[in-house]
Amino acid sequence: MNSSSLLSPTCTSPRVTVVGAGKVGSTLAQKIAEKNIADVVLLDIVAGMPQGLALDLMEARGLEHQERLIIGTVDYKDTAGSNIVVITAGVPRKPGLTREDLVTINARIVVEAAQKASAQSPNAVLIVVTNPLDVMTYLAWEASGLPPRRVVGMGGVLDAARFQTFIALELGVSVQDIQTMVIGDHGQLMVPLPRYCTVRGIPIAELMSQEAIARLVERTRNGGAEIVQLMQTGSAFFAPAASAALMVEAILQNQPRVVPAAAYLQGEYGLNNIFLGVPCQLSCRGVEKVIELQLTDEERDAFMRSAASVQKNISQAKELIAASVPG
Ligand code: NAI
Ligand code: 2OP
Repeated sequence: MNSSSLLSPTCTSPRVTVVGAGKVGSTLAQKIAEKNIADVVLLDIVAGMPQGLALDLMEARGLEHQERLIIGTVDYKDTAGSNIVVITAGVPRKPGLTREDLVTINARIVVEAAQKASAQSPNAVLIVVTNPLDVMTYLAWEASGLPPRRVVGMGGVLDAARFQTFIALELGVSVQDIQTMVIGDHGQLMVPLPRYCTVRGIPIAELMSQEAIARLVERTRNGGAEIVQLMQTGSAFFAPAASAALMVEAILQNQPRVVPAAAYLQGEYGLNNIFLGVPCQLSCRGVEKVIELQLTDEERDAFMRSAASVQKNISQAKELIAASVPG
């Protein structure tokens, strides 16, 4: 069967496009395929690579009782009619590359991906994964022309999963019984909220010392860096892909999951015109509702520091993009 017959317009399966077929993107494609919930279009700029990965994933279907199609492509036309587009395309931080270089390169990639993907799938929900997450989500939203609540960034699900893991390891209890909340940016100024973390409803402060909580909060903040330090060759992708897959499934299946994610704020928490990690209720429409937590003064100050940093980085990213436009 050639790829044009696989892409027949009569196909009625839900479709998820993953832009960027690197570590996170290809692992996410695998997870969606294994959940058997949608056809997956895997798009990358490197010709042949997404096609090869898609074929490899297709060949696993019979072994894993999956039925959905996995299509590899370098052409956005093949993404048409997607219900969800996930942007994982970008370059990681490398020696010799400044943070500004990284932001400029990834901003261009994300802006192009958001424009081209939304043109093909004007009804899609856009999930952004590329770093720096909160800034890239803002730029993707602007470039896509989509309503703000149909654009959301994946960062908090991962940070909360890491906090959950560290609490489970510390207490020796099942990770399933732990609920965590992390708000703010997906970066050094993220705000893990121990007050909103429980073991089956029991506040963690009743089960561990303040020193232990502070240590786990710090480990959560450094969660990405800890893995980079260990791997040396790249950054985390299993838990990031699992986090994005949770959001894809919730949105695709209209599950009202409540997760921390980068949402567009329109007065919530006293903030405007910014994407920042907050508790969100998801739905098939994207972010159905932003939930406003009652924060202590200390938590609010930390959240506002995080917001100020993201706001500054959005402005800088816009300046860098403007300055890098030839002519
Ligand atoms: P990777 O380097 O393995 O994959 C990136 C892919 O993007 C490559 O295959 C590359 O060819 C592709 N790409 C580059 N330019 C493109 C373009 N114009 N169009 C389409 N594809 C293009 O990187 P990895 O590990 O998959 O990470 C991807 C991004 O996700 C990075 O920015 C990383 O920092 C970020 N990330 C974010 C997380 C989060 O929680 N938000 C967690 C983990 C990673
Ligand atoms: C992480 O937190 C790099 O954002 C990525 O692992």
